Amino acid sequence: MGLYSEKLFPWLLDRALSHPRIEARRAALVGQAVGEVLEIGFGSGATLPFYDPAKVHRLTVIEPSEGMNRRAAARLAKAVLPVRAVTGAGERLPFGDAEFDTVVVCLTLCSVRDPAAVLREVRRVLKPGGCFLFLEHVLSGEPKRALWQRRLTPIQKLVGVGCHLDRDTAALVRAAGFEGVVSAAEEERAFGALAPLAPLVAGSVRQGFSGGGAGAASASGTGSGSAASASSYSSSSSAVGGGLP
Ligand SMILES: C[S@@+](CC[C@H](N)C(=O)[O-])C[C@H]1O[C@@H](n2cnc3c(N)ncnc32)[C@H](O)[C@@H]1O
Repeated sequence: MGLYSEKLFPWLLDRALSHPRIEARRAALVGQAVGEVLEIGFGSGATLPFYDPAKVHRLTVIEPSEGMNRRAAARLAKAVLPVRAVTGAGERLPFGDAEFDTVVVCLTLCSVRDPAAVLREVRRVLKPGGCFLFLEHVLSGEPKRALWQRRLTPIQKLVGVGCHLDRDTAALVRAAGFEGVVSAAEEERAFGALAPLAPLVAGSVRQGFSGGGAGAASASGTGSGSAASASSYSSSSSAVGGGLP
């Protein structure tokens, strides 16, 4: 792996994503995790301080980049809950079926090679009724912004080591067959150098009790869904809360 992706990028990412507004969203997301928890795309471990040791029995984290894992080591050394760190990718999780109560993905589906495969794996490893928590930056519903996100994505993929600005992640989550939904997403107005990462979409959906069936899921938001398609994001009675602070 290159010097940039394994040394400079992990350092850069730590700084770029330590904005207080991102931290607040990480805290709101991860604070919902309970039981046996898996986080996919752990990066440098920025979410770790926000897990509640009173609610999380054990945290398993998986991350493919050795550079990220090296940066995460310092945070892991200070962990106040039991953590198992694994090197690997979300498309092929080295865990058994129905092992986890909660799976967390934070700002990662933008970067994975195959987000649909990752979401299939999330469903496989979740226990029946288990919860999938996600926070992602997505394609805007505003045509002008979306156009720029599409134009900038080839550059972003280089600078951000595979990061896409133009993924319709809410639609991918809906298509993955989770049940229940959640609420909340919002058009995040430009803030500083992170402006192209807006809007953000967050949500929590559940694995159905019937296993891998084709459940209906939705994540509400003005994000990738756009104002137009946001109306198709319905809340459901099994909504489990969550969303953006
Ligand atoms: C923008 S970072 C986010 C890291 C962390 N979740 C956070 O909130 O700061 C995206 C992470 O996804 C990881 N990643 C890329 N491809 C992946 C894959 N196929 N499976 C799991 N993680 C992946 C990257 O190495 C990187 O650490």
